Formats: sequence, C-alpha cells, structure tokens
Amino acid sequence: MKKKVLVIYYSQTGQLKEIAQNLVQPFEKNQNYDLDYYNIQPKKEFPFPWDNESFFGVFPESFAQLPAEIKAPPENILKTDYDLIILAYQIWFLTPSIPINSFMKSEYAEKLIKGKRVVTTIGCRNMWAKSQEKMKLLVKNVGGKLVGNVAFVDRHLNHISVITIVHWMMGGKKNKKFGILPKPGVSEKDIMNASEFGELIIQADQNNNYNNLQNDIITAGGSNIKPFIIFMDEKANKMFAIWSRFILKNTKNRKKKLKFFKIYLLTVIWIVSPIVYLIFLLTYPLRIRQIRNKKTYYSELN
Ligand SMILES: Cc1cc2nc3c(=O)[nH]c(=O)nc-3n(C[C@H](O)[C@H](O)[C@H](O)COP(=O)(O)O)c2cc1C
Repeated sequence: MKKKVLVIYYSQTGQLKEIAQNLVQPFEKNQNYDLDYYNIQPKKEFPFPWDNESFFGVFPESFAQLPAEIKAPPENILKTDYDLIILAYQIWFLTPSIPINSFMKSEYAEKLIKGKRVVTTIGCRNMWAKSQEKMKLLVKNVGGKLVGNVAFVDRHLNHISVITIVHWMMGGKKNKKFGILPKPGVSEKDIMNASEFGELIIQADQNNNYNNLQNDIITAGGSNIKPFIIFMDEKANKMFAIWSRFILKNTKNRKKKLKFFKIYLLTVIWIVSPIVYLIFLLTYPLRIRQIRNKKTYYSELN
C-alpha cells in the first residue's frame, strides 16, 4: 500500500508554497507515496501587499498567538490517515504566523497530526529560533512527533534583508529595490535546491528510522542560524511580550499604541541593534561556549 504524506502550508506570496513543493519532489516522483496538499485558509484573509497599518496591526495577536478562524480542511483530507506531515510555515513577529498558529490551535490539527511524524519547514527572513520553540510546543500539544526541521532564510546581511523584505511586503513584488539591492527573501537557488532535504526525509522514511534525520539536515546546512540573530531573537521576544500585552490590555488607543510600537521597532533595528552588534562582536571571545551551545540547541529538535 502507498504511504500518504500531507503538506500543510499557508503562503501569501507563494514563496513558501514553492519551497514546500520542491521539498517534497522526491515523494512526488516516488510511486510508493501519495501526496496531498492542504492550504490553510483564514476566514478573514490577510492583505498582501501589506500597508503599514495592517502590517503592524497583526503584531499583538500574532505574538500572543491568539488564533483566528480558519475554513475547515476538505473532508477527504480530514478522513485520511497520513504517515507523515510536512508542516510549512512562515514567521510573523518572531512567532508562527497567525494562519498556521490558528490551524495548530484548531480541532483539525489534532485530527490530522496526533500520533504522526511531523517535519517542520520554515520560510522566513532569518529570525526563526524562538518561533520554532513555539512551534515545538504547538506540535507537542496536538500529539505530533517532531522528527525534523528545515529552515529557509534570506542569507543576506540582516539590515539589507530588513530593507528588501519591507520593499517586498509593502510593494508586493519580489524584485530588487532601487534595481541594485539583492532580491528579497529566500534565494532562487535555495528554493530550487529544497528537494535535497526532501531526499533526506524520504530516505529516513524508507528506512523507517528518523533518528538521524535532523543531524543530516544540519550537516546539509538546513538548520543554520547566526549567533547574533539568536541573540536578537531572544532579547526581542522579551520586549515583544511586554508590548503585545500592553497593546492587548484594552482596545483603547490601540492605533496610538501600535504607532509607538512601530517607532520602538524602527529605533531598535536602526539605532540600537548596530550598537549592540558592535558590543556583541567585542565580547564574542568571552561568549564562545555559550554561543556554540545555543546554536546547537536551536538547530536541534529537543
Ligand atoms: C507581518 C509579518 C511579520 C514578519 N515577521 C518576521 C519575523 O519576525 N522573522 C522573520 O524571519 N520573517 C518575518 N516575516 C517574513 C515571513 O516569515 C515570510 O518570509 C514572508 O512573509 C513571505 O512568506 P509567504 O509568502 O510564504 O507567506 C514577516 C512577514 C510578515 C508579513
């Protein structure tokens, strides 16, 4: 009997969909597998391209992981007993995006994922470490067994990727800002080569042994995070928690609070973080062991 694989995803620009489709190419090509795709659909769609107000407007709920309503998955998918789940998600404000979080907190997630092996696949700018911690918990809460994680990121300098992703998210086109900056998002080469990781997953499945999958993914470069990005992710999560609670406390002055949050965020990105980066570099030798431990911790599954 054929094995059944379900790819669960949500994608606004199509980038993550393309990554997921390429990742599962080895399964598509293998006659022993049947593949289904489930595209999460929020009842109220999020805009793309974004405008300033809607972009910052999703911050409090996104960070607090408050679910929104989603449409029910098709009946035939809900009825199928899958052998493997590929869970492809993007990150909004250091957290699994509202659509994926809403699915993971819905009744459908347990139905589809309970007792199943799950490989998470991230497509984001570059800051995914703490978000994956939240995803680990979401998978655990619905009784899934996380067996792998592959992260696809923009490999350009952090500040360059901030400029280019804003250009993409607000303008709607994945092209070069001013005609000279690099293209935003995950590179075409990395998207094309996603099937390399699919090969590792199918091998693990065929051997019915997933014990080494994450190590193989790490060796192939699929779970790499820069130390400073981890550092910023951890610090920003603490601050975002305070901001999100403050904005959600009551609806009064929400717009004003969001404006302050935006100013705060831009100040941190453009003024605070370059200074912190310098300090981070100067104190790097003192932190080498801690940095190595964190890199290992976040790239693994436990
Ligand atoms: C509201 C919003 C917030 C985002 N926050 C982050 C973030 O915190 N970290 C990150 O690496 N990428 C972030 N991104 C980029 C997304 O993770 C993702 O790469 C991009 O939205 C394209 O994904 P998609 O078209 O497949 O949905 C954000 C995007 C949006 C729209």
